[in-house]
Amino acid sequence: MRPSDAVATDARRRLRPAGIAFGGDYNPEQWPEEVWAEDVALMKEAGVSMVTAGIFSWAEVEPRPGAFDFAWFDRVMDNLAGAGVAVCLATMTASPPPWLSRLHPEILPETADGRRMWPGGRQHYCPSSRVYREHATRLVERLADRYADHPALEMWHIGNEYGCHTPMCWCDESAADFRRWLSERYGDIGTLNEAWSTAFWAQRYDTFGEVLPPRLAPTFPNPAQQLDFARFSDDALLRCCLAEKEVLRRITPDVPVTTNFIGVYKHVDTFGWAAHQDVASVDFYQDPYDQDTHISAGFVFDVTRSAREGRPWMLMEQAPGAVNWRERNGPKPPGRMRLWSWQAVAQGADAVLYFQWRQSRGGAEKYHSAMVPHGGTDTRVFREVRALGREFASVPQIAGTRSTAEAALVLDWNSWWALELDSHPSTALDQMKIALAHYRPLFEAGIACDVVPPDRDLSGYRLVVVPNLYLLKEPDAERLTAFVRRGGHLLVSFFSGIVDDCDRVHLGGYPAPLREVLGLRIEEFWPLAEKETLDVRHADGTISRADLWSEAVVPEGAGTVAEFGSGPLAGQPAVTRHSFGSGTAWYVATRLTPEAMRALTDEVCRTADVGPVLTGLPEHVQATVRAGDGGHFVFLLNHGQEPAEITLPEPMTDVLAQGAAPAHRITLPGAGVAVLTTR
Ligand code: GLA
Repeated sequence: MRPSDAVATDARRRLRPAGIAFGGDYNPEQWPEEVWAEDVALMKEAGVSMVTAGIFSWAEVEPRPGAFDFAWFDRVMDNLAGAGVAVCLATMTASPPPWLSRLHPEILPETADGRRMWPGGRQHYCPSSRVYREHATRLVERLADRYADHPALEMWHIGNEYGCHTPMCWCDESAADFRRWLSERYGDIGTLNEAWSTAFWAQRYDTFGEVLPPRLAPTFPNPAQQLDFARFSDDALLRCCLAEKEVLRRITPDVPVTTNFIGVYKHVDTFGWAAHQDVASVDFYQDPYDQDTHISAGFVFDVTRSAREGRPWMLMEQAPGAVNWRERNGPKPPGRMRLWSWQAVAQGADAVLYFQWRQSRGGAEKYHSAMVPHGGTDTRVFREVRALGREFASVPQIAGTRSTAEAALVLDWNSWWALELDSHPSTALDQMKIALAHYRPLFEAGIACDVVPPDRDLSGYRLVVVPNLYLLKEPDAERLTAFVRRGGHLLVSFFSGIVDDCDRVHLGGYPAPLREVLGLRIEEFWPLAEKETLDVRHADGTISRADLWSEAVVPEGAGTVAEFGSGPLAGQPAVTRHSFGSGTAWYVATRLTPEAMRALTDEVCRTADVGPVLTGLPEHVQATVRAGDGGHFVFLLNHGQEPAEITLPEPMTDVLAQGAAPAHRITLPGAGVAVLTTR
């Protein structure tokens, strides 16, 4: 059976939003049907052009095994099509219905210490469960068959936030899947023994049948085993997603697919997954209590854009106001939701969606804000949402434009997993903190930056920043070395280039694969005690503080830019610079203060001749550029509280300020946004 004839007139006509898509998660099953007409009326009023529907609808469309009831969902789809709202249709598989875990308790995930996770929340399935995948793909097949020709169907939203609650499972079925995955990776048990260094602690395996996931053990489980388990777990989730994608491609080959990433999330390798998506999408929840939330957002947005080489992406979820899952959940102050939404667009998004359309009356998320709050439409949140929807609708020409960057920051999930393993010189190293410590000065200096995996072609960049790339494969090290040799500028931070793909130390002096390009060797790691700090003496005689980590650096061609001014390494290099080939490689052997990191990054950028999008930007003002067929747009976002005055290189017009004349100067209020163009 097909959706009602009323709307299924032109089978292949889709409701692709003409400009920046605007909308949110739509969960009509939480409401009586009388509310649905009001929903679409309000969507039109608020400029909603796209919703993502059906995310948690499995138990409603398949209330008993194999008994499908799509009639109510047909009406939802028809209503949306009738209102001209495109649907990013979820595959409904994010939360299995109660009957599935009752009939098949083996789908329930287990923790490393063998405890079963029960239903009652959501995402209670083992990613390796064959039964889960069979039922999920059966549902997806029915769904795709039913809505393939529905005019509201714009794209597919596979699953939802894969790995959010169950990124790993240690059950027997996962164990069997892990062994199969390992035998594919290594071929024979001898190769696995070699890769896992199992001669250590009598861990030699005789057959794959003896291998287990790293379950709770008396002491540190084998690090290479843990690393492979992180890879395997990421892959098991991806295989769930791909199993659904395969069904969708077969039935609806021309409908794009996506799945929403959870910001930049340790358990899901954005770069690996993005290659399987037609458009990258991400969820990010700015924290109004965090002064730097826009910097974290900036990083996540740059990762998401870069994951598909700069193509426009979707902000699939953000909150219109407060969330409900932090310890303290305050609303977004007036104007911040608009500002942070524009930030996504400024950094390349062509869609801004929220969780969720109508605030739930019951359930665990009833205190999570929504586009239509409990208080209805006469509320600040709805007014701000409506104003933003209309504002986006007024500038469709922005969609499809793209940005370019001369700087790139390298991020690698394999290295992240390996860096944060136990039994290291320090367990205080945190990949995201170090990445952000390097990203922040670039962001604050207004430098456009991509975030790329280490095997990406670097030739288009002038500056490459490498924070804590602990695990480094030889070919990637060679790529970094060649980048500098050809004239690139490289900034590398401590404890990088230490181990290979199997967490085995690169021998020949740390960091062996980077020694040549950095012009140094590290003799000893000297992590600092908790709260301990060191002096760092800079070339101009100033002293700053450092913490977390230090290393005994032995220069082998590199010059000293700053040295340790106290502690056991006093007088030895803390920051070095090496001219190599036609380029320069910098190395930071400790964690500098944000101010010292900013000064260093500024110096590196000057040497690399990498400049900001606009010079002379006031503090807290972010500037980005997007350009393409629709025009050339300079986005200015004032993340501060106070008004900011910006002088422009030429007279420009704010496309958001109707009728404004071109001007050389612009005043942005606190939280203000301008989108400037010379046309
Ligand atoms: C995630 C989920 C949504 C919702 C929001 C709440 O992003 O995908 O279903 O739970 O969190 O912030």
